[in-house]
Amino acid sequence: MPLKAIAFDAYGTLFDVYSVSSLAEELFPGKGAQLATIWRDKQIEYTRLRTLCDKYADFWQVTGDALDYACAALGLELTPGSRDRLMGQYAELSAFPENAEQLLRLKDAGITLSILSNGTPWMLDQAIKASGLEGYFEHVLSVDSVKRFKTAPETYQMGPDALGCDAKEILFVSSNCWDICGATWFGYRTIWLNRYGLPLDRLGVNPHRIGSSLQDVADFAFELNT
Ligand code: LAC
Repeated sequence: MPLKAIAFDAYGTLFDVYSVSSLAEELFPGKGAQLATIWRDKQIEYTRLRTLCDKYADFWQVTGDALDYACAALGLELTPGSRDRLMGQYAELSAFPENAEQLLRLKDAGITLSILSNGTPWMLDQAIKASGLEGYFEHVLSVDSVKRFKTAPETYQMGPDALGCDAKEILFVSSNCWDICGATWFGYRTIWLNRYGLPLDRLGVNPHRIGSSLQDVADFAFELNT
């Protein structure tokens, strides 16, 4: 079955969530990398808890709560000014360097590109503008419209609904292995961008392909369509 569209996860996949580390390091010398890691882990944990218990709060709120937690866990005093700077930085993450060239390759081949993310519409809009990725995505889908976070099936259903095709005709791309497991269970074709050389999650489900950059995504998409 040929591929009709690609759905990208946003944070960690298109936008580098660890690009906040240098500001974190400037504000809290010696703790920047640790802060960025706890911040990200707690953010994802909160999305899961809130979805499991039906206590949705949007991703901006969850991101701020996770930052507050991460600073408290490391014994760091987060002033309102530093909080604003870190959150501001999160709203304007860097894109990975290969993105624009590979997205253009895919777009030029007539493949519909979309984003399906936990981020709010505002956050995604900001991140796309700040990273210079405007004009590539026909659909920017935020789970905010279903008030649940990935990996709830309702969130993955947004892809087929918006793109007007079966999940099997969509290639789902994420650097988050848990997201890839959820998307594969849902029925997408999947490629895990293992940007950090991590082991595969032990959940009894495998991505259809493993790569390490958007070039691997584009190559896999062309392979599927030949
Ligand atoms: C997202 C997070 C999970 O963009 O990376 O949905």
